[in-house]
Amino acid sequence: MSTREKLYEGKAKVVYAGDHADELILHFKDDTSAFDGEKLAQLARKGEVNNAFNAFIMEYLQEAGVPTHFLRRSGAQESVVQRLEMIPVECVIRNRAAGSLCRRLGIEEGRVLEPPVLEFFLKNDALHDPLINRSHIRSFAWATAEEVEAMTRWTERVNVLLVDLFARAGLILVDFKLEFGRFQGDLRLGDEFSPDGCRLWDAQSLEKMDKDRFRRDLGGVVEAYLEVARRIGVPLAS
Ligand code: TMP
Ligand code: ASP
Repeated sequence: MSTREKLYEGKAKVVYAGDHADELILHFKDDTSAFDGEKLAQLARKGEVNNAFNAFIMEYLQEAGVPTHFLRRSGAQESVVQRLEMIPVECVIRNRAAGSLCRRLGIEEGRVLEPPVLEFFLKNDALHDPLINRSHIRSFAWATAEEVEAMTRWTERVNVLLVDLFARAGLILVDFKLEFGRFQGDLRLGDEFSPDGCRLWDAQSLEKMDKDRFRRDLGGVVEAYLEVARRIGVPLAS
């Protein structure tokens, strides 16, 4: 395994070539980052927790009919996925106001958004992931009109599925980010779903149980991820 080819290293994952040309290995690092990589730290067990969390969610979505790149977990911090041609657009859906939406529009945190707000951001840390719209995506050919429609539809479908999953565990799914890519021309959900890329609040106390604990120096980051994992039934030693 040590001779495998490293293709890309991101802030939270390393991507290696898989055993087959159309597969990749994702290695979930203990590194965590925020504010486009300005704030960095290492958190013990984060890679293992996010790998198990992501596998659970991807399998859940796949069983519900969402096309994803996920194939199988291959180690404590690793999973095998299909090699996608990634679309450089982050699809964010919001059920409650938080984060950049509050800063941008002066909305109070926690306001219920009905219908949920869907936003696109360009995946570009140097430009701080700017907000973009369908017109930008089309004009710069980041995706086709059909792909934009499909990304919108799948993001809304994933939202319905996961709002329900987390609600049953006493958690509010505030918002989350998805990334999509193409596999043999077909759109699929790629990247990961973990508490690094979503906001989750305890339904009773409204306590933050996601990466905002790291962004805001609240402490107990991995402990909160483990608690969320335990509540939804991700198999992990606590
Ligand atoms: P935001 O409030 O910072 O725009 O983020 C909205 C949600 O999307 C939040 O759950 C974090 C997630 N997100 C990422 O995981 N990575 C990103 O680069 C961005 C822009 C958002
Ligand atoms: N994931 C991004 C970063 O590391 C944005 C964030 O989560 O704040 O900078």
